[in-house]
Amino acid sequence: MVVAGAILTLAYFTVFLPRQQPAQDIKVAMTPENIERGRYLAINVLQCVDCHSERDWSLYGGPPIEPVGAGRSCMTKDTEAAGVNAGQANFPGILCIRNITPDVETGIGGWTDGEIIRSVREGVDNHGSSLFPIMPYFIYRNVSDQDMEAVVAYLRSVEPVTSVRPQKEINFPMSYLMHLWPEPLDGPVPMPDRSDRLAYGEYLAVVARCEFCHTPKDPNSMDGFEGRRFAGGMPFFLNGKVMYPMNLTPHESGLGSWTKEQFIQRFKMFAEPMKVDPRDNTLMNWNAFSGMTEEDLGLLYDFFMTLPPVPTELEPI
Ligand code: HEC
Ligand code: HEC
Repeated sequence: MVVAGAILTLAYFTVFLPRQQPAQDIKVAMTPENIERGRYLAINVLQCVDCHSERDWSLYGGPPIEPVGAGRSCMTKDTEAAGVNAGQANFPGILCIRNITPDVETGIGGWTDGEIIRSVREGVDNHGSSLFPIMPYFIYRNVSDQDMEAVVAYLRSVEPVTSVRPQKEINFPMSYLMHLWPEPLDGPVPMPDRSDRLAYGEYLAVVARCEFCHTPKDPNSMDGFEGRRFAGGMPFFLNGKVMYPMNLTPHESGLGSWTKEQFIQRFKMFAEPMKVDPRDNTLMNWNAFSGMTEEDLGLLYDFFMTLPPVPTELEPI
């Protein structure tokens, strides 16, 4: 019985998972507005470029190195947490952050627009295979259709780079569990109305992954702790050093005493990357975020100020 159960379970994982739907039949408009919006999103807001490029850890925030988008060295069980997020250390197998330039052989040049959109928001590649959830598709499912099309227009507009990224090899049981995560969207994702300042600020706080890094999570389920959304305190590791994302609620231990100007300034001060001892670097993408508009940073601040104030509690290491 136990053996039959195990076989059925494995069959379920390989036959019925990952859940998926056909990629949309869509051709994005390669207008200058779309490409510009997509560039802003991919570099400064969604951090596609930060993750999918090698980084210069001698500069604060680790700005990406040219050619950007061509992928990044692979994570293995020996990897020191050198900059994606805490999940990069001790990786169970081999995972390479892939080349997302439009090179046909080694990048995504041969994918349809619909396949790229599906991979970013629903977590399956052009063949319908699961992407490992370090690729934050479970967050990007909140990216609106309009913004997603702009990102694709930008990705198509850059120079193709030949850069072979080896295929992943994920160890058991992760090799099975990863198929549980991809999930098709069940309808269009509308763009929040920019005149609704709080809704738009919340949209940015989610898709720019402020919520992901700044909400403490149960390490087993990866669900955020009840009542502590944006309250910070989850440990991140870089080069053996621990750092805690700040509490972004308006509690006095969080953003309580910060003015909007201070908040915006805190980002803008990193526009020119500063030299830093790599051991004192940070996993907060300061350089990328410094390119966000003052308007968008202000919307983030206004949204954070509406959150219930929650005291900071540092999670155990
Ligand atoms: C936290 C790091 C991270 C961020 C941020 C990120 N990615 Fe990824 N991405 C990955 C990893 C890791 C993979 C490889 C997953 C795998 O092979 O299973 C990947 C895979 C992909 C793939 C599949 C490529 C292939 O050849 O299979 C595409 C397309 C992609 N990412 C596009 C994007 C876009 C567009 C964004 C921004 C909206 C983005 N990524 C942001 C880490 C990231
Ligand atoms: C990849 C994880 C990650 C993401 C994404 C992220 N943060 Fe952070 N953040 C951190 C870490 C780690 C720190 C603590 C180290 C530091 O201050 O650089 C931090 C620190 C901060 C600080 C404190 C600065 C100070 O003076 O102490 C602010 C403010 C902040 N983040 C805001 C944001 C906002 C707003 C977003 C979304 C636009 C965001 N963060 C996205 C990880 C992240």
